[in-house]
Amino acid sequence: MRVLILGATGQLGHDLQLAFSDLEVVTAARMGAQIQLDLAQPDALRRSILDSIRPELVVNAAAFHNVPDCEARPAEAYAINATGVATLGEACAEIDARLIHVSTDYVFGERNARSGREGDLTPWREDELPAPLNVYASSKLAGEQLLAAACPDHVIVRSSGLYGLAPCLAKGGKNFVQLMLHLARERDEVKVVTDEILTPTHTYALAHQIRRLAESSEANGVYHATSQGQCSWNEFAAAIFEETRTDIRLLPATNVDFPSPVRRPSFSALDNSRLRQQGLDEMPDWRVSLRTYLDELGATR
Ligand SMILES: NC(=O)c1ccc[n+]([C@@H]2O[C@H](COP(=O)([O-])OP(=O)(O)OC[C@H]3O[C@@H](n4cnc5c(N)ncnc54)[C@H](OP(=O)(O)O)[C@@H]3O)[C@@H](O)[C@H]2O)c1
Repeated sequence: MRVLILGATGQLGHDLQLAFSDLEVVTAARMGAQIQLDLAQPDALRRSILDSIRPELVVNAAAFHNVPDCEARPAEAYAINATGVATLGEACAEIDARLIHVSTDYVFGERNARSGREGDLTPWREDELPAPLNVYASSKLAGEQLLAAACPDHVIVRSSGLYGLAPCLAKGGKNFVQLMLHLARERDEVKVVTDEILTPTHTYALAHQIRRLAESSEANGVYHATSQGQCSWNEFAAAIFEETRTDIRLLPATNVDFPSPVRRPSFSALDNSRLRQQGLDEMPDWRVSLRTYLDELGATR
């Protein structure tokens, strides 16, 4: 089976290449992969998929996902994350290829405001209504909807707080774990927010979960795929320092301490409910994944 991995040079793309390595993999990104493809160039994208690559499966991990940059450049965010994904969906439908597309927890809005129940912080299920709070999130949601309309054989995988061995290209190369370890080498104390809750997710586990979905002929539609459990960024930082026995003062902060023009959901933990219902959920606990990753990095020695 020929599998096209788009966004292959990113942190998730790197682990997707490992997870699909027993198949015929074609890698693509704007540069540094086997094939140069740009989601913002629809004609060239269509031609390449229809006339030369002709994959049976496409896994799309490519996105414009630097959140402040998306806010500043909405046309570009929509061209890549929405229209580009729609073109990909149309091309896949034309050659009966299956499309697995990666999306985000940020499609959801504020938990309390939406449920109306104070303290109701149960993780978001796939059947709940998204309400994006920023341009990145709304462009990703538009991409989900356009591709669902264009390509019947599709799987949309929403995940959260990714970290992996390969650099996160959109965030200057450092994921949150690497950033915390870097700051700990330079400072005596670090302030991290307590009022944003998510589920940190290791790209290695996510890539293998995506492979499992690819093997299930029944999988179709939207799936949440994060590690199990949830924590604030501050609790995530505390776990990183604890696992690596790093001596640093970790202080609590709130979003008010880090003013930003971009709104982000304060609670975006996801429930892998459809994976569980279909007996496909292979995602480990977030803390177990963190330990595995820190071991791989050599940071626990
Ligand atoms: N990182 C997170 O915390 C997080 C959380 C939830 C969901 N996600 C989603 O997970 C997916 C993978 O994220 P990641 O962290 O692995 O990203 P990443 O490390 O920034 O990699 C992104 C990949 O997309 C490619 N790309 C960017 N713009 C492109 C374009 N216009 N056309 C073709 N390729 C393009 C990049 O290579 P070039 O720039 O060289 O083209 C790179 O290969 C994305 O869909 C993202 O929205 C990420």
